[in-house]
Amino acid sequence: MAKKLHIKTYGCQMNVYDSARMAELLAPLGYAPGDTPEDADMVILNTCHIREKASEKVYSELGRLRRIKDSRAADGSGMVIAVAGCVAQAEGEEMLRRAPFVDIVLGPQAYHRLPEMVARAHRAGADTGDGILDTEFPVESKFDHLPARTAPEGVSAFLSIQEGCDKFCTFCVVPYTRGAEFSRPAAQILEEARTLVAGGARELTLLGQNVNAYHGVDRAGGEIGLGALVRRLADVEGLARIRYTTSHPRDVDDALIAAHGEVPALMPYLHLPVQSGSDRILAAMNRGHDAAAYLRTVERLRAARPDLALSCDFIVGFPGESDADFEATLELVRTVEYAQAYSFKYSARPGTPAAALPNQVSVAVKDERLARLQALLGEQQMAFNRACVGRTLEVLFERPGRHAGQLVGRSPWNQAVHVTAPDHAIGDMAEVVIETCESHSLGGRLSEDLPDGGDAMERLSA
Ligand code: 5AD
Ligand code: SF4
Repeated sequence: MAKKLHIKTYGCQMNVYDSARMAELLAPLGYAPGDTPEDADMVILNTCHIREKASEKVYSELGRLRRIKDSRAADGSGMVIAVAGCVAQAEGEEMLRRAPFVDIVLGPQAYHRLPEMVARAHRAGADTGDGILDTEFPVESKFDHLPARTAPEGVSAFLSIQEGCDKFCTFCVVPYTRGAEFSRPAAQILEEARTLVAGGARELTLLGQNVNAYHGVDRAGGEIGLGALVRRLADVEGLARIRYTTSHPRDVDDALIAAHGEVPALMPYLHLPVQSGSDRILAAMNRGHDAAAYLRTVERLRAARPDLALSCDFIVGFPGESDADFEATLELVRTVEYAQAYSFKYSARPGTPAAALPNQVSVAVKDERLARLQALLGEQQMAFNRACVGRTLEVLFERPGRHAGQLVGRSPWNQAVHVTAPDHAIGDMAEVVIETCESHSLGGRLSEDLPDGGDAMERLSA
C-alpha cells in the first residue's frame, strides 16, 4: 500500500516549487500525496523565515504533530517528521534539541539528499533521539542531483532558475538561509520547461529570490542573462506565457527591458519591490538604489511595454523611519500607480544588521502607517481592476471555479478572472469580455464560443 506524504508549505513560491520537487523525489520510495497529517506516514513542514514569529509558529505546529506521532506510535504505525526550508536552515541543531521527536532537519540546499535521509530515519526507528541534520551549503548544486521532473503541475507551473541572494538588505534573512546566488544552467532550465509543457503547462513562472540577477551558462559555455533566457523559453513550442519573480531593481538590465518590449509571451506584469520611497531609508536598508533610480527603471520598462502593470513589496516602520520618510513612500506609490502590492510592518529578524539598529519604530506607528499605505494601494488596485471592465482580455483558464460551470483563469496582468466556461477549456486561452470587478478579481463572459471538447494541447498544436 502506498505510504502517505503530507507536506505543509509556508511562504513564497520558491517553497511551493521545492515542496513539489520533494514530493517527486519521495514518490519512488512509495510515498503518495496525502491531504492531512493525521493519516500521513511522513510529514514535511516546508518553512519560511522571512517574517515575524516564523520559528515560534513552526514549533507550535510541531507540538501538534508530536501528539499525532505519539498516537500513531501507540497503534504501531509510526510517522516520520521532517522540517525543511528556511527555519530549518536558521535553527539547525537547535531544532533537534527543542523538538527531539523531529526526525529530519534539512536546509533548502539539501533536498536532493532527502530519500537517503528518510531511509536513515527508518533504519534508526522512531524516537531514538538521533535526528538527522543537513543544513550545509554544498559546493555541488542540488539541481544536478534532483531527478528530472515527473509530475505534471497543471496549466501554470513554477520553474526555479536561480536561488539565493548576495544583496544583503539589512532587514532580510534570505542571504543567510538560502545562501549565495546561484543560477542553473540554461540547458537544464529549457529541458525542465519542455517537460512541464509536455505535461500540460501553458504558463511558466520563473522563480528566484533575486531572479533577474540570473546569470547562467548556455550550451556554448557563455554567460546568459534573464532577458536572453526568456527569449529562448519563448521558443519552446506550446508555451504561451512567461512570468518571473522576484526581481531587484538594480538587476533590471537593458536586455531584460528589451525582452519586455519584444517577446509577446513575456507577460506585461512585473513584481518589482522597492520597499521604501525614502532615499535615507533605502540607504539604511542597503538596497543599493535610490527612489529616482527605481522610478527611472519603471519609466524605461513602461516605455518598452506601455501596458506593463507593476506590483511591489513595501516595508513600513524600518528603524529610524520618520513621518517624512513614510510620506516619501506614499509619494512614490502615487507616482508609480501599482496594480497590486504587498506591504509589511518591519519586524526585526535575529542576526540581520537592522535588528541591532537604534530607533526601532513603535507598533502603534507601524500600524497606523501600514493602514494608510494599504488604503492607498487598495485604491490603486481597485482603480486598475475597474479600468479593465468593458475591455476584452486574453484569459488562460487554470482550474474550476467555486461555482459549478465556472472556471478561473488569469489575465495577462495576473488578475484572477471568473468566467462561465466548460471544464474542457482548462488549459485554453480565450478572449473574455470583462463585466465586473472586485478588489482581487474580475468576472466576465467568453467573447465567442470555445471549440468543443478535446485536449487543449492538441488544439494548440493543430
Ligand atoms: N520585516 C518585514 N518585512 C520583511 N520582508 C523581508 N524581510 C522583512 C522583515 N524583516 C518583506 C520584504 C520582501 C518580502 C518578501 O518580505 O518586503 O520583499
Ligand atoms: Fe532579501 Fe534584499 Fe536579497 Fe530580496 S534582494 S532576498 S530583500 S536581501
